[in-house]
Amino acid sequence: MNDPGRLGPSGRAKFVSFEGIDGCGKSTLMERLADWLRGASIACVRVREPGGTAIGEKVRRILLDPASSEMVGRAEVLLYSASRAQLIEEVIGPALEKGAWVLADRFIDATFAYQGFGRGFDLEHLQMIQHWATGGLVPDKTILLDCGVDLATSRLCARDGSTRDRIEREDREFHSRVREGYLALARKDPARFLVLDASMDLEAVVEDFYNRFWLAQTGK
Ligand code: TMP
Repeated sequence: MNDPGRLGPSGRAKFVSFEGIDGCGKSTLMERLADWLRGASIACVRVREPGGTAIGEKVRRILLDPASSEMVGRAEVLLYSASRAQLIEEVIGPALEKGAWVLADRFIDATFAYQGFGRGFDLEHLQMIQHWATGGLVPDKTILLDCGVDLATSRLCARDGSTRDRIEREDREFHSRVREGYLALARKDPARFLVLDASMDLEAVVEDFYNRFWLAQTGK
């Protein structure tokens, strides 16, 4: 566990993204992985999308503000991609170059799931835009926390005091399409995706993640 050389593909830091519908519980898992990395004295940088840079956080406010209700779908795609391009240039690229791990709260798959499957945009077009915005950067591993829409919604409702953002306010059918979209993406790329059953109790999800991801990374 203390040998960073054993972690990740040779000479390259691990870039891990976390995905799932709103309310799936990905922040807790990211926190735990950051703790394990810290315990193993491995540098890691955490980012979130949209956001993670001064410009990206401004874009995030525009995207998630319920008052942005007149935003058209193409603008939505481009704004998410703009925030991502800025984040790669400013934070993700330099961190990977320094050999740090990068833990990303969402990345390209969110655009495929939400704007592709959720909004109905053509996946090939989205792929072209993503490729241009990211320079072709793809996570080494993507952790998909999968759970039903009703459970995720009840978790969102239990979240203290925060109001629903513009995307969270979309209807149940939208979030069901996003969930199915994520599962379809995972089926297409089983080597990159690790799908966890996020309907379990949170500690059980963490244990599953530990066994299926962390132990595999550390070669134990
Ligand atoms: P968050 O609440 O997990 O921070 O994500 C912000 C919201 O933006 C969430 O509802 C998912 C949505 N989203 C997209 O629709 N497309 C994207 O490309 C990304 C990164 C997020």
